[in-house]
Amino acid sequence: MEIRVTDTPLLDWAGDGLAIGLFEDAVELTGDLATLDQKLVGVLTELIAETEFKGKEGSSEVTRVGPGGSIRKIILVGLGKPDSLKLDNWRRAAAVVARTAKKEKCKTLGVSLPVYNGDPFQTTQALAEGIQLALFQDNRFKSESEDKGPVLEQVDILGLGNQAPAIVRANQICAGVILARELVAAPANSVTPITMAETAQAIASEQGLQVEILEREDCERLGMGAFLGVAQASDLPPKFIHLTYKPDGAPRRKLAIIGKGLTFDSGGLNIKGAGSGIEMMKVDMGGAAATLGAAKAIGQLKPDVEVHFISAVTENMISGHAIHPGDVLKASNGKTIEVNNTDAEGRLTLADALVFTEKLGVDAIVDLATLTGACVIALGDDIAGLWSTDDTVARELAQAAETAGEKIWRMPLEEKYFEGMKSQIADMKNTGPRPGGSITAAVFLKQFVKETPWAHLDVAGTVWTEKENGYNNAGATGFGVRTLVNWVLSQS
Ligand code: BES
Ligand code: MN
Ligand code: ZN
Repeated sequence: MEIRVTDTPLLDWAGDGLAIGLFEDAVELTGDLATLDQKLVGVLTELIAETEFKGKEGSSEVTRVGPGGSIRKIILVGLGKPDSLKLDNWRRAAAVVARTAKKEKCKTLGVSLPVYNGDPFQTTQALAEGIQLALFQDNRFKSESEDKGPVLEQVDILGLGNQAPAIVRANQICAGVILARELVAAPANSVTPITMAETAQAIASEQGLQVEILEREDCERLGMGAFLGVAQASDLPPKFIHLTYKPDGAPRRKLAIIGKGLTFDSGGLNIKGAGSGIEMMKVDMGGAAATLGAAKAIGQLKPDVEVHFISAVTENMISGHAIHPGDVLKASNGKTIEVNNTDAEGRLTLADALVFTEKLGVDAIVDLATLTGACVIALGDDIAGLWSTDDTVARELAQAAETAGEKIWRMPLEEKYFEGMKSQIADMKNTGPRPGGSITAAVFLKQFVKETPWAHLDVAGTVWTEKENGYNNAGATGFGVRTLVNWVLSQS
């Protein structure tokens, strides 16, 4: 499918489906739309009246245009009330349009929507993102594609002919989002620490990034006892991934993004029981997937900031050489951890990743992790938790997420809760009491960051959706990629 921009007048556009976006309670046809309605002998007026179309957000109606015309179908899409609209409404409207066009077997589609907030670039980008993300279908694990019938080949975004660069931007970002979706959706017998490292190497060679993969022995030498403790029951080798994007000139800033990379989380000897969703624990590398997705996009966008992409990748498994609950591990900053629960493994891998990253001397660190079920209980499936030691980074991320249409909500980094992780034998335990479980997890991570401004996103709920939701299909969402890309671009 190709998405183009064009200045072809609405009245002259010819093709299978023409989509028209209308605001809520503003469905009177004026200007070009009135002329189009006349040309189509009142089809638009009739459709609006017959279906009582009000332009409500997410609503749509379709009708066939009489034979012999230059358009086969008209698709109306509602945008909602103009005063309450965000950029994401355009992405969502585009998803409705794209899904409808596909259902209506359109090969060519014209899209005519109002411009968001006087910003034609953002409008075009959002429309192109919504279309691509909604139409993405993952057939890799099916013996036969379920995508039958004619495919949408050509989309023309009307009235925005000078916005071709916004399409390029959308394509680059969507490539990253789709990579993240594919990594998260693939089962643990397909995406392993080895294939994650290979994916990082492929990104490096395709986009001209530097890549370093630390093997078990390298991690041993660096004293990464927390990460290696988690890895020790797996039959697969752990891989510590470090990708670096460097701009051509001197970088304005140096940033680091870390993703939790558990390709499977069985819980270890504190094994996940019945009803725990153990069969979903392939998603436990969702942070790493977003990190690699962002690397793929940033490599193409080429901002003038340096960005490090890091993940300590392994599985949390069970075997005769698994960590015992109660074992003490030593992280690479010398701090000792009593592992009172082997299922709180993500923070152990992140501890060594944070220590490694801080030594790079970056200006800010953001980590993304499917860290706690407690965060899902607190914020649900649509909102990620944000914890930060730095109000500026927190504000920047909130803005980046808002533009991305990804929801995040700041949570307290309550230092006092560290008391719940006091250990008799070691510097700390890896889990505290059940109440406030996503907060203690964040406070644990903070022990491994000395002074670099740092933010942590708990994405346990948001990397996956059971039901289709806007431009997200059921399955992996690719959550985090767009926020990370926006954040990096905002620093350039
Ligand atoms: N990977 C899980 C968290 C998770 C939950 C991810 C749901 C995706 C969806 C994490 O490693 C975990 O097991 N956390 C425990 C922590 C507990 C032992 C303190 C949890 O949330 O139950
Ligand atoms: Mn776990
Ligand atoms: Zn986990």
